[in-house]
Amino acid sequence: PTTHSHIHIIGATVAQVVERVDIYHLLFSCLFLVQPTTKLFIDGKFVDSNTTEWIDIPNPATNEVIGRVPKATQEEMLAAVDSCSRAFSSWSETSILSRQQVFLRYQQLIKDNIKELARLITLEQGKTLADAEGDVFRGLQVVEHACSITSLMLGETLPSITKDMDTHTYRLPIGVCAGIAPFNFPAMIPLWMFPIGMVCGNTYLMKPSERVPGCTMLLAKLLQDAGAPDGTLNIIHGQHAAVNFICDHPAIRAISFVGSNQAGEYIYERGSKNGKRVQSNMGAKNHGVVMPDANKENTLNQLVGAAFGAAGQRCMALSTAIFVGESREWLPELVERSKSLRVNAGDQPGADVGPLISPEAKARVVSLIQSGEEEGARLLLDGRKVHVKGFENGNFVGPTILSNVTPNMTCYKEEIFGPVLVVLEAESLDEAISLINANPYGNGTAIFTNNGATARKFTHDVDVGQIGVNVPIPVPLPMFSFTGSRGSFRGDTNFYGKQGIQFYTQIKTVTTQWKAEDATLTSPAVTMPTMGR
Ligand SMILES: *[C@@H]1O[C@H](CO)[C@@H](O)[C@H](O)[C@H]1NC(C)=O
Ligand SMILES: *[C@@H]1O[C@H](CO)[C@@H](O)[C@H](O)[C@H]1NC(C)=O
Ligand SMILES: *[C@@H]1O[C@H](CO)[C@@H](O)[C@H](O)[C@H]1NC(C)=O
Repeated sequence: PTTHSHIHIIGATVAQVVERVDIYHLLFSCLFLVQPTTKLFIDGKFVDSNTTEWIDIPNPATNEVIGRVPKATQEEMLAAVDSCSRAFSSWSETSILSRQQVFLRYQQLIKDNIKELARLITLEQGKTLADAEGDVFRGLQVVEHACSITSLMLGETLPSITKDMDTHTYRLPIGVCAGIAPFNFPAMIPLWMFPIGMVCGNTYLMKPSERVPGCTMLLAKLLQDAGAPDGTLNIIHGQHAAVNFICDHPAIRAISFVGSNQAGEYIYERGSKNGKRVQSNMGAKNHGVVMPDANKENTLNQLVGAAFGAAGQRCMALSTAIFVGESREWLPELVERSKSLRVNAGDQPGADVGPLISPEAKARVVSLIQSGEEEGARLLLDGRKVHVKGFENGNFVGPTILSNVTPNMTCYKEEIFGPVLVVLEAESLDEAISLINANPYGNGTAIFTNNGATARKFTHDVDVGQIGVNVPIPVPLPMFSFTGSRGSFRGDTNFYGKQGIQFYTQIKTVTTQWKAEDATLTSPAVTMPTMGR
């Protein structure tokens, strides 16, 4: 690779490279980053694939190809899973304190490299640099939580089940685990997966999204630097063949998936049929209910940020607003605030809304906006014709608001996954709750109100896994779990928190009997022991 391509891929200017010697270190110590060709990570080595099939990685802001990623061959995928299997026996026997130390070092390395990780995310995924740092930060919190493994993996004990008999449980790792990640959170979602799996003593096979592999590769390099032994984490790339491989390989015991419903249902079914544990987080349609007694200023700002941040490509984006009663009079002001957001390439100063991931994603969002218009919604703000100077070929859509939407419209039924806010109206809180409960998804929802009784009624009556009260994107911190429900989740054990530990461990229950009369006596026994009780 030429010097030019080094700098191109790392997303830094020449001045930044010259200024910061540590970037040179990065360039020379992790060769996979300086080549537009993404490597595989097998048995502790970053290796070139022998495949003949490649997928281009375009920059979403320009659609220039900035790299390519291999579809790993069958032999390479087998080598990766075999490496995980070999590493499992020693890693699972490594003391829990040593595993904790690896992740204590890892969290520091992620902090030290947060800018580099964010730069890779913006380059491949398109989101703004500030959003990309947030992406890393939310994943980092899961790694920090993983450092509490010494408390999290405690078993249970119950003494004196019957005379001289005690029962206790151990939590133990389950074997080789695998993660399949989506394109929208290149750092956070992989970090929900392998750190929790590995700190429990499992080894891990990761398949990042083929659109955004760079960040996961750097995360792997940092984990190796933190002291994770060879083979404890392996990375393969690809599409359907790689997914099927993971669902079918007998050594893989558990699969974590985040992404679309179609893929999630498929992986859940195929993996479960093969006897694996599967947790599948899928599509969402998150509703925000606006009550007339809410703090208007705060509510409108929160709505704008949650609907259009990350260009709406968040599973937890607040994509649907229900204005109750006279709060509908706030709509013109909502439109004004949404107009003020700046649409631009993610690495440009002041950018609020970056591009969508691909031209196909843009075409889909545009057609859903059009369907709304045709089916009778009112287009209050149209982002389809947005012009971004200098980035005319990017996949940009500006903030868009459709009002007067009804539940039978396509734009309501489909997850749009773009910067489009769909607005419904309701006469009462009860009507708003019925709307939400009739929707098949159950990822998240929020209510904006200053009335505690209204908030309490809402949180009790609404059938959704994650609820915010005056909090628009209620993604729980890692001491809790990510509790999407209904059509948003398949499986029975959620991501991270206590449930994450449960997912990646199995329980061994030991019942012991040590008869009191068999205890070694301090002086020689002179009487015969009595038998029985
Ligand atoms: C690619 O093929 C060469 C020659 O057969 C082999 O030595 C190498 O290990 C292969 N690489 C991978 C990643 O499997
Ligand atoms: C939705 O339902 C309303 C009333 O029930 C009806 O007037 C309208 O035509 C329907 N729209 C679509 C797109 O089916
Ligand atoms: C929920 O959120 C996750 C993670 O933020 C997202 O990837 C997924 O598409 C959404 N679906 C649900 C409701 O789990």
